[in-house]
Order: sequence, then structure tokens, then C-alpha cells
Amino acid sequence: MTLKLSVIGCGYLGATHAACMSSLGFEVVGIDTDPEKVALLSSGVLPFYEPGLDTLLADEMKTGRLSFTTDFAAVADADVHFICVGTPQSKDGLAADLTYVKSSVAAIAPYLKDGSLVVGKSTVPVGTAEALRAQLAESAPQSDLAWNPEFLREGFAVEDTLTPNRLVVGVANDRAEDILKEVYQPVIALGTPWIRADLPTAELVKVAANSFLATKISFINAMAEVCEAAGGDVTVLAKAIGYDPRIGSRFLQAGIGFGGGCLPKDIRAFMARAQELGADQALEFLREIDNINLRARQRVIDVVRADLSEDLTQYKIAVLGATFKPDSDDVRDSPALDIAAQLQAAGAQVVVHDPKGIEPARKRFPNLDYAEKVVDAVKGADAILHLTEWKEYRELDPSVIGQLVKQKFLIDGRNALDRNLWRNAGWRVHALGRTD
Ligand code: UDX
Repeated sequence: MTLKLSVIGCGYLGATHAACMSSLGFEVVGIDTDPEKVALLSSGVLPFYEPGLDTLLADEMKTGRLSFTTDFAAVADADVHFICVGTPQSKDGLAADLTYVKSSVAAIAPYLKDGSLVVGKSTVPVGTAEALRAQLAESAPQSDLAWNPEFLREGFAVEDTLTPNRLVVGVANDRAEDILKEVYQPVIALGTPWIRADLPTAELVKVAANSFLATKISFINAMAEVCEAAGGDVTVLAKAIGYDPRIGSRFLQAGIGFGGGCLPKDIRAFMARAQELGADQALEFLREIDNINLRARQRVIDVVRADLSEDLTQYKIAVLGATFKPDSDDVRDSPALDIAAQLQAAGAQVVVHDPKGIEPARKRFPNLDYAEKVVDAVKGADAILHLTEWKEYRELDPSVIGQLVKQKFLIDGRNALDRNLWRNAGWRVHALGRTD
């Protein structure tokens, strides 16, 4: 008999997982405490932007295999329960807030049937899975718990779920592994590497991977700082070192650094957990990774001030990009919005444009000005800041934009625009980490 699945938490991770598991042929119920989100998903509408997921969701709703509800009792029918709730940074420190993970496990416990498996996918501090497993042994001894971290990138969520570059399962026994093998059989059949680990290792794999990625980005941004001081070009440097296969060229894009709902909070939560474990020295370097990352944002503000004026009150700045990366409407810890808000706090008139992120940005920063069209954002601007590398910005015509602005001054915070094109149209261009 085919397994039935439940997915607890239908945000970015859960909605993707639910739709993808349905597309593999499983009957899936998604549960979320937010009735608005559930109503949208139930009508086949995605509450956020993610390429490809909107059509997948609509298609899967039509099959009748996929449903959404706010009622936790709906898990009673399912055999495997994926916990996909958020673990944001706590309000009062660096650690992850585990409220939603704990409350969702507690909420499903009374309904778990014999032999069911709870599978955590949320990113949690190491040790959480063992604690939850012990808790379940008391409240629902007929069930078991495993951990199966997700590695999906926004913008590639469907691809990363259905054709991941590896599957990692933290299990305490063979039975839990067998159940997960049954769930992921179609993915395993594609030749996807399968890694069985114990619970703490599975939790650590996720934060280790994100720490490594964050380190790569901050490494290249540190090199960008040195290039600016020494008269070098970080893009050439990145290309040159990237040819060494031991280094690799990916995640060496210098600019205003990383943001989003994962990398910043994961490295902070990892440091906080290491301190609890008495291993804080081992992760001391992550503090520097965080500092380099935040410094990249400050450097943009310094360049604006150095070029325009220390006093920005008379200047209008157009910010192109609000989301933390292109092909997403996610503005969580977005470097672009952070820079926009800091410039506004410094007295500048700031207008922000983004192809998908204006509404979520407005919710977080209601006092910033927003423009639906690039031409409206740049009108009369003294500087244009390119802060999220949407394709649409690479297609701008610098001559046309040049006729709308007050000063032809561009800062490329992502090293993604063709600066010669802009220079040839009469623009002063500052690209982070490049001095010529
Ligand atoms: C990340 C991990 O990649 C993913 O495996 C994990 O599951 C969740 O966290 P995501 O948050 O979608 O995914 O974003 P990612 O593509 O990793 O980019 C993170 C940030 O780093 C973005 O702000 C991006 O602009 C920035 N970045 C990325 C750089 O500044 N330079 C680079 O070279 C790469």
C-alpha cells in the first residue's frame, strides 16, 4: 500500500515539499496554522513567488492527491509526517527559535498512528532531533522520528527537491531508513547519492553546508576589500582561482553579500549552539564571516557618501532590487533593503524597485518609497544602486536611463552589469572590488 504523507508548515519549504511529493504519486496533506495561506494553497494559488512551483501546485491540486488544512487531526491518516516549519533567529539573541518545531510536534503527537514516522526537515540546532525523539517516546511511543535536512535554494526549489544532489537521512534504526527509502524511491532511482547518518550528524550536515557557502561568499568579499585597497579586480581574481577544481568557481560572486532566510541566521544559530556545547572556539571564524558580510553592505554606503556627499539629504538614490536574490520575492535579511533603509536613515531620498519583491518589502519597510517601474524609480536620481541581479536590470539601456537621471552614477553591488556598456553611455560606474 502506498504511504500517505503529511507536511506540517506550508511556507516556502513545506509548500514545495508537499507539491513535489504529490507529483511523485503520494497522497499528501499540508497543514498550516495560517488560514489565509491554507485557503490560497487549497485553491491552487501559491502565496509566494517561486519559478515552476505555481504550475506544479495547480497541477497537483487537480489530481486530488494534494490537500491543505489548518486542522492537525488531518495527520491521523498519514504514515510519514514532514516537519517543515520555520526556525527564525530568536528576537533576543543569535540562537534559532524552536517554538514552531516544538509546537508542531506536540500538535501532531495525539494523532500519530502505530508505526508512523515523524521526519524533521527544518534547520535546527544539533541535539534537537534527539530531544524531540525522546519527547515523542513519551507522548506517542507508537511513532519514531528521523531527520532529513533540505538543501533547496530559492529560485530552484522544485528542481532541488525532485533532483537533489544528495539525500541525507538521520535515523536511529533501519526501519526509519527503509520508510524514507520508500518515500524517496523515485529520486533514488535517478542515481541520487543516499547518505545515512545518525541524528546529530544529519542536523550538522545542513548547518555545515550553509556555513561553508557563507564562508565562500565572505572569502571573496574579503578579497574584494583587498582588491579595492590594492588596485585589483576581484572578478578576475575569482575567475582565476575558480579554475582550480579544489576551489571551484561557484559562490565566488563578490558584491553586497548574502542574505535570505537561511545563511545569516544559520551561521548565527550554529555559533550559539557551539557555545552551548563548549565548542565555541571551533566556530569563532563564523563571527568574522558574518562581519565581512555586513561590512559589504556598509561599503556601498561609504561609496555613495564618498562620491556624492557626506550629507545625503539633498540626494535621490534609486535602488534596483529589494529581494535577497533574483527569482524570489523573499526579502528576509535582504542586503539590498538593508542598504536602502540605511541610506534613507542617513537622509537620502530612496526609491526602491523590484520585479517581484515590492509588496513583501513594503510590509517590512513601510517607510521606504517604492516604484513599480524602473523608469519611475530612476527619475531625477543622483545615483543608481544595482543591488539584486535580476535579469531585467541587465537588459536596461544605459542611454535611455541616462536621460532620466540627474547624475549618471551607477554602483553595481552585484558585479553583474556590463560596466563598459554603461561607461560608454557616459556613466561613472563603481563596481564592488574593482578599481579600474
Ligand atoms: C541557501 C543554500 O544555498 C541552500 O542550500 C539552503 O538550503 C538554504 O540556503 P538560498 O537562501 O536560497 O539557499 O540562497 P543562496 O542561493 O544560497 O544565496 C544566498 C545569498 O548569497 C544571496 O543573498 C545571494 O545573493 C548571495 N550570494 C550567493 C553571493 O553574494 N555571492 C555568491 O557567489 C552566491
